[in-house]
Amino acid sequence: MAAYDFERHEYDVIVVGAGGAGLRATLGMAEQGFRTACITKVFPTRSHTVAAQGGIAASLGNMGPDNWQWHMYDTVKGSDWLGDTDAMEYLAREAPKAVYELEHYGVPFSRTEAGKIYQRPFGGHTTEFGEGPPVQRTCAAADRTGHAILHTLYGQSLKNNAEFFIEYFALDLVMSDDGQCQGVVCWKLEDGSMHLFSSKMVVLATGGYGRAYFSATSAHTCTGDGGGMIARAGLPLQDMEFVQFHPTGIYGSGCLITEGARGEGGYLTNSEGERFMERYAPTYKDLASRDVVSRCMTLEIREGRGVGTEGDHIHLHLNHLPPETLAERLPGISESARIFAGVDVTREPIPVLPTVHYNMGGIPTNYWGEVLAPTDEDDHAIAPGLMAVGEAGCASVHGANRLGSNSLIDLVVFGRAAAIRASSVVDLEAPVPPPNLASVDAAFDRFDKFRHAKGPVATAELRLEMQKTMQADAAVFRTNETLQQGQEKMEAVAAKLEDIDVSDRSLVWNSDLMETLELSNLMPNALATITAAANRKESRGAHAHEDCPDRDDENWRKHSLVWFSEAQTRLGYRDIVREPLTSQSEGGIDLEKIAPKARVY
Ligand code: FUM
Repeated sequence: MAAYDFERHEYDVIVVGAGGAGLRATLGMAEQGFRTACITKVFPTRSHTVAAQGGIAASLGNMGPDNWQWHMYDTVKGSDWLGDTDAMEYLAREAPKAVYELEHYGVPFSRTEAGKIYQRPFGGHTTEFGEGPPVQRTCAAADRTGHAILHTLYGQSLKNNAEFFIEYFALDLVMSDDGQCQGVVCWKLEDGSMHLFSSKMVVLATGGYGRAYFSATSAHTCTGDGGGMIARAGLPLQDMEFVQFHPTGIYGSGCLITEGARGEGGYLTNSEGERFMERYAPTYKDLASRDVVSRCMTLEIREGRGVGTEGDHIHLHLNHLPPETLAERLPGISESARIFAGVDVTREPIPVLPTVHYNMGGIPTNYWGEVLAPTDEDDHAIAPGLMAVGEAGCASVHGANRLGSNSLIDLVVFGRAAAIRASSVVDLEAPVPPPNLASVDAAFDRFDKFRHAKGPVATAELRLEMQKTMQADAAVFRTNETLQQGQEKMEAVAAKLEDIDVSDRSLVWNSDLMETLELSNLMPNALATITAAANRKESRGAHAHEDCPDRDDENWRKHSLVWFSEAQTRLGYRDIVREPLTSQSEGGIDLEKIAPKARVY
């Protein structure tokens, strides 16, 4: 057994991760007087939410008619009827409150002439239950909305006495023998010391796992650490086959060009200069939902109408927009296009390509953020002491495809919901449960094994092999052949973790070891993705299966679950939540409006 001295800490609530969801949960917990610690591997304002550009969806109706029912309908349709109805209602209903709270906390939103929060159009957001024109629902702070939110929430959390443990890497959850989460074991990168954080509630807000792929808009820190810890705790991951490709990553670098660019009037063209989206989505054109636009771009390239010397990308035009609009509304992406594509957006189109952007799947939760531990008897059983919010979680509000700007609202609505729920499930007066020391030892053993690993496989090489496999075989379009071959390859790649080589044995800022631990977290996320994808025999949302091109509601309107045990995967399924929170007679949505139908834009 590995022997590490460790420092002990006790809190009512521990939040792991300091992006938008983690900070909103931290703030909400601290505001209620919970002793709250936020543990984060990067400085809070460097969390990946800082890169969120276009905005946050809420039916404020500042630019024209809008209401939560229309927002809910768009979210249901965007999800391709795989989202949980209660969670989608909760998101759409609570969104305006959550945004006004942000405004009052100090987020510097862009303004209309009348001084209201500025809202722009985004893909898939419409009026009149999809029968009317696009709606301006996405509240924006120029094209730096995530940056503005993150800085505000960090300041407010400090003001409310939340304590931050910065550059601490969470190694594993501390779990009791009967499945209660009791805290987290962490490694402090700066001085190499070890820490045991015990608490009554742990909230995982560790973000997505975009870095399982070769080309992603996600930061290099998006390594699915929460999903890795959950898999090792014997809990399942849900709907992992649904990986969103954002239509406009800059060709080559993968850097994000916000959908807000198309919201402000930008459009895509092929090598013939044709605005091809008019052919595929005659009503909403370039503002169809992301999975649809990404597939159309891929088809154009496949059919020989890509641009560039290799015909392998697409052009995004902003050069027809007034330079003052670009300067006021899209300054960040104008700079990104200059730096990463060498393009002056006032004159030339930006070369773009669908790029991995978001994980719809993650840790299954209810709409309060409580982690689910489904059993044969109970699909909704709860893992006590454990919550997950933000991209790490799967509420499931995005189903098979997320609408643009529904991510930032998910972060704040469900970060806030976790804090609201904690007020009834976390007893301020109760003692913090004593930690299961066997679970703590297991975390140190695993850490020590990697620290002293002497195999033949370098971490960077294995990571690249995983990323290339995922990029090729779990792509925008999938077939039985690519998925089966991808699953076999990924199983072989994951097995090589046993042969990893870590050359630096030190404990202080050992980036070699940290990247290896991150890779060990990415691996179950990647494996769950390809396993669930290989088994879902239909096309839905971001899962475009060429051998099964139709959506099959009779057999597949259900969530996939993947468990891990001794590196083996086990698949299961659970039904989606079909009941709304409120009936129509109580002011809820008309269920007829959200009944499944063909998804056209
Ligand atoms: O395009 C964007 O600005 C991204 C927004 C989102 O993913 O919600």
